[in-house]
Amino acid sequence: PKKVTTQTVVDMKGDNEKISMLTAYDYTMARIVDRAGIDVLLVGDSAGNVMAGHETTVPMTMEQMIYHTSCVVRGAERALVIADLPFMSFQVTANEALTNAGRMMKEAGAHGIKMEGGKPVVDTVAKIVEAGIPVMGHLGLTPQSIYQFGTYQVRAKEESEAQQLLEDAKALEQAGCFSLVLEKIPAPLAAKVTSELSIPTIGIGAGAECDGQVLVTHDMLGLNKEFKPRFLRRYADMDSTMTEAVQQYISDVKTGDFPNKDEQYE
Ligand code: KIV
Ligand code: NA
Repeated sequence: PKKVTTQTVVDMKGDNEKISMLTAYDYTMARIVDRAGIDVLLVGDSAGNVMAGHETTVPMTMEQMIYHTSCVVRGAERALVIADLPFMSFQVTANEALTNAGRMMKEAGAHGIKMEGGKPVVDTVAKIVEAGIPVMGHLGLTPQSIYQFGTYQVRAKEESEAQQLLEDAKALEQAGCFSLVLEKIPAPLAAKVTSELSIPTIGIGAGAECDGQVLVTHDMLGLNKEFKPRFLRRYADMDSTMTEAVQQYISDVKTGDFPNKDEQYE
């Protein structure tokens, strides 16, 4: 299959073709999602929640993100693989950010990186892009700043915040981002940002006017029953499917039904 590149993703906006993006953190899941035809695989630092069971994404390290990313890269034949730079891997200095973005490309094999934030990271984004590394921006709800906000509620509801977000989006485009994630902001604001930028926007809880959509794969597959925000559409009930399979296995082991004659060696 023809590989998706950052240029493919940018062109999709012009062609009015919506961009599909889902998260992956491991080889097996990446292979399934890639073969199903996804455009972009995001190795999100949501791995901290989904894979590690942390309450926030804050504890994720470069080493952990490099491991997850290398696993996903081995499972992806067609999709563009973008890796999150974890908290504190890009905020201290632009040089350190560039070094870490480079590690994600060289050691993990990512095709590009994603970074949370607006104005404060714009110079860093420009430096990374100048080095030849594609950067995806991320505005609105930025989970790495959870301790500053205190909640996971919808962002930029106030006019002044909306104005700031629009300015940040334009600054990120100017700095060379090839696309921009908009997380949990009012749909009309996401629509405005989308129409004023030439780079594609990819929304999560940001409405239908974005150029693409992203969800956490484990959430859309119904693997996390407790998490049910309004923006989440469930495409499967994998929790029930897996629970029933495991219960059947336990029962078969207990009754001696498994293994049967065909499932053992003479
Ligand atoms: O880490 C993640 O999964 C993300 C997406 C929700 C955009 O950043
Ligand atoms: Na993330």
